[in-house]
Amino acid sequence: MKYTTRILDDSKESVAFAAGLLNQGEVVAIPTETVYGLAANALDADAVAKIFIAKGRPSDNPLIVHIASMDMLDGLVREIPPLALKCADAFWPGPLTMIMPKADVIPAVTSGGLDTVGVRMPSHMTARTIIEKCGLPLAAPSANISGSPSPTTAKHVLDDMDGRIPCIIDGGFSAVGIESTVIAFENDGIRLLRPGFISVEDLKTVTDNVLIDEGVLNMLDNDAVVASPGMKYKHYSPDAEVILIDSDTDAFRDYVSHHADSDTWFMTFSDGDLEGLDVNFISYGTTDSEQAHLLFDVLRRIDNMGAKTVFARCPKKTGVALAVYNRILRSAGFRVIKL
Ligand code: TXA
Ligand code: MG
Repeated sequence: MKYTTRILDDSKESVAFAAGLLNQGEVVAIPTETVYGLAANALDADAVAKIFIAKGRPSDNPLIVHIASMDMLDGLVREIPPLALKCADAFWPGPLTMIMPKADVIPAVTSGGLDTVGVRMPSHMTARTIIEKCGLPLAAPSANISGSPSPTTAKHVLDDMDGRIPCIIDGGFSAVGIESTVIAFENDGIRLLRPGFISVEDLKTVTDNVLIDEGVLNMLDNDAVVASPGMKYKHYSPDAEVILIDSDTDAFRDYVSHHADSDTWFMTFSDGDLEGLDVNFISYGTTDSEQAHLLFDVLRRIDNMGAKTVFARCPKKTGVALAVYNRILRSAGFRVIKL
């Protein structure tokens, strides 16, 4: 272990300490409204390289650059598409990442060797204050070991990053709970690369021309040429094997009663669904936003309880639930049983 990892509160002193570390080229875990991020100076190739080492992340998977103002954006991109300005107006600060042509100041390690860069202005006050205090655009992927569920609490980050980074700033439970929506611009429209809390329906308030990339809902070959490199990797996987059950409540209940054993857990929407059955189960919410908020925490809790197999109820495929479905589908390695 290289570091003694400290969890600090989000006081003024801690924020100043974190900003100091970032100015020295260190990596700090910071809270955001989506999930916790592993932040470093986006313009410093050596600092960014430390993020890839701490996460064990493939080097061709680009990082998102976090900013606190529109002024910061200007120097980072060669061009701001008119639609991007409209989206910034509508959704920034907030959980939306926009891919734009990168300026030369962004090192190749940050952009995964691409000619573009993903930029996001978070709404979390602590994240914004840290960016302002250090005065740097911060590259920050989710603060988990590559492949495992994203962290929504400081404790989740510590579980993955203990000894790998000097410090974690605790900003409480992430409000959204899943990562930002990622979009690119093409042919005067938007291509959705990763669904998130800003839904397709939300994006359509800015333009009718919204295309969902096929990588959002389909498994891609490892050697596929993809619009967003993150789409092809194993993701969000707990140690337990996850299998999705696409069914109504009655059929799910019937399936559960025939497949229960001590190593098996069931993820359902609300406790009432499985009332009266003597099985291991955990609920992750009845509304889209509740499911987004709880999904990663529940996946981590199931692992801590020693589950070997998890059968999970399948979310809807519209609104914010499309993002929940996109994540849990990857946790399940795309295995879905339709009843
Ligand atoms: O909510 C979030 O976005 C969180 C917090 C910390 O802000 N960050 C996050 O980063 O989820 P990460 O690295 O776990 O996911 C970034 C995703 C990856 O799928 C990556 O491939 C894609 O965004 N991405 C980043 N830059 C890109 C680019 N230039 N072109 C295409 N895809 C890009
Ligand atoms: Mg991630």
